[in-house]
Amino acid sequence: MTINSTVQNDKLHVWHHLTQHKAFETSDPLVFVSGKGMYVKDINGDEYLDATSGGVWTVNLGFGRDEMVNAVSDQLSKIPYFAGSFGTEPAADYAKALTDIMPGFERIYYSNSGSEANEKGYKMVRQRAHFYNGGKKHKIIYRDRDYHGTTISTLSSSGHLQRKKHYGPFTPGFVEMPHCCCYRCPFNKKYGECNIECAHALEDVIKNEGPDSVGSVILEPITAGGGVIVPVPEYFPIIESICKKYDVLLHIDEVVCGLGRTGKWFGYQNYNFQPDIVTSAKGVAAGYAAISVTVTSAKVFELFKEDPGNPDSYFRDISTFGGCTAGPAAALQALNIIKRENLLKNVNEMGNYLKNKLFELQDKHQVIGEVRGEGLLCGIELVKDRSTKQPLDEQDVTAVAGHCLQNKVMIGRTNRSFENNNNVLLFSPAFISTKGDIDLIIEAVDNALKEKT
Ligand SMILES: Cc1ncc(COP(=O)(O)O)c(C=O)c1O
Repeated sequence: MTINSTVQNDKLHVWHHLTQHKAFETSDPLVFVSGKGMYVKDINGDEYLDATSGGVWTVNLGFGRDEMVNAVSDQLSKIPYFAGSFGTEPAADYAKALTDIMPGFERIYYSNSGSEANEKGYKMVRQRAHFYNGGKKHKIIYRDRDYHGTTISTLSSSGHLQRKKHYGPFTPGFVEMPHCCCYRCPFNKKYGECNIECAHALEDVIKNEGPDSVGSVILEPITAGGGVIVPVPEYFPIIESICKKYDVLLHIDEVVCGLGRTGKWFGYQNYNFQPDIVTSAKGVAAGYAAISVTVTSAKVFELFKEDPGNPDSYFRDISTFGGCTAGPAAALQALNIIKRENLLKNVNEMGNYLKNKLFELQDKHQVIGEVRGEGLLCGIELVKDRSTKQPLDEQDVTAVAGHCLQNKVMIGRTNRSFENNNNVLLFSPAFISTKGDIDLIIEAVDNALKEKT
């Protein structure tokens, strides 16, 4: 294949995600062919510094890791697949390794995307309701700035109104509660003077719906695509105590934060509480294989074992590609690399460095309303006016990211998720980032803000 024919094939036959294709009648799509470390190369030979880990917080260990490739290849030549109702070596070994870094958790259920992992969590909640509560305790509460996936039910449980507005009618049984972004407090309060109303709101929603109808609450530990929202330290312990009070399972969606992104193995481990269900995907195998996990406590798992005489008493779910062995083989290797290279430490150090550099940019550019983040999951909220906090228009935010891209630095941004509030630039470089990489990212953003705002 020549360069031209590949680009032509792409233009004529590939339907790109999240993309309006009219532009490709007069311009070419970006087609990537290789990557090494923090850099990716396109089909024309141009190199880009990737501050997004593969666009969506995934290639956390960087590109071109031969060890990852070999782990997958060795496993595929032994046995590539067997359905998940049976065991395989990497599935067993990874389950042990993962539960070792998640005290209080015991079981891993494998599937192959973040959406699917969340659906499994929902099905566990629904089945528990049918076994023990006559089907009543089936409702699932979610937050209005969180995202939990692309299927109709995970979209039904996502708060991104603009993203979901054309896909209704939605699955019943999902109920919304407010977010916890202090910068745009839904209760018009100020942290330090407030009562953490955003967390107590959960109790109001449960009471309103009827505690006997609510089965779980799903929350991102740090909201990612919804604009990098870091809860205050009191938030999750309050949520946990409300869940306990009403026998509501606490499901934490670690699809983005899981496996090191925030500087701990899991985002929830930054706070002092214990979830019942944790889901993860993107960084689990760092993009070298497709895998997602739904991790549960023994308490949840045992519910599906208690009544062996009942032919319906087990978790009656399957995921065909949850039986691919490449996923857990790659995931196990990724975990070992993070440990061996001490990458959680680097995420913390480089995360602090990145955040400090973003604060310096905030001193220079009035357009930066707030800098937020934990580890290498950072964002800056752009506003027209700091005092009114009026969000910068999405087209201007897009222009800033576009300017960086022209200068061969890829950064992320909130993407048509909230009407009039898609104004956050996202930074999530790989865990191997150096100060030099971050300086280049900051320089590109500095120039883009000068030129475009
Ligand atoms: C927090 C969160 N949960 C779930 C998902 C869905 O994951 P997937 O696209 O693998 O289905 C995403 C994807 O961006 C996400 O950010």
